Amino acid sequence: MKRTLVAIEILLIVLIVGFLVFIYSGVYNIAATTTHYSFLEWVVETTKKNSVRRHAKSIAAPPLAGLDLQQGLRHFDAMCVICHGAPGLPSSAIGQGMVPTPPELSQRVRGWTPGEMFWIISNGIKMTGMPAFGPTHSEPELWAILAFVRELPGIAPEGYQALRAKIRPGEMPQPDHH
Ligand code: HEC
Repeated sequence: MKRTLVAIEILLIVLIVGFLVFIYSGVYNIAATTTHYSFLEWVVETTKKNSVRRHAKSIAAPPLAGLDLQQGLRHFDAMCVICHGAPGLPSSAIGQGMVPTPPELSQRVRGWTPGEMFWIISNGIKMTGMPAFGPTHSEPELWAILAFVRELPGIAPEGYQALRAKIRPGEMPQPDHH
């Protein structure tokens, strides 16, 4: 019994020392040109999914059909395309240089409920580069953005450019206007 305890203690010390050596030695490549180790990737992905599910549980989405899609499009174009791109439109150099890579959102609509996506847009995702838009946008604006994002899978590659072309310059929200 005593021997087992000593063995466990030694193992714990080795693990803690190994962990500290890993952190302080600088061997981990923090560059945004490489992805995480697959184990870390799993930790981060699983934590993210479960955290969003739990925190978004009490959010009740209003009927999306009644929301202002034009307002959603304008904010989406000003705030999201730079990183996420849109159907038929690649993201900018900013989005392309990020790890994790911001996904094209039409691919992600099925993975989240409207409430969960609303939570992500409002609160952001720590340490990924996904900003929180809650501090700078009103609830109706956030729901309008969400409603527009939910429409993305139905927009053809040429369709987004056509929608975008109809935005009048004076109506476009500016990144620094908030
Ligand atoms: C500065 C870059 C940046 C901007 C601007 C940005 N995002 Fe993101 N977004 C990210 C990154 C990075 C992720 C995380 C991807 C991951 O965790 O793999 C992300 C994740 C998301 C996700 C979760 C996707 C998934 O399935 O994991 C949603 C939804 C989302 N963003 C919506 C938006 C919306 C809507 C806007 C505009 C209002 C926006 N984002 C603006 C970078 C950005």
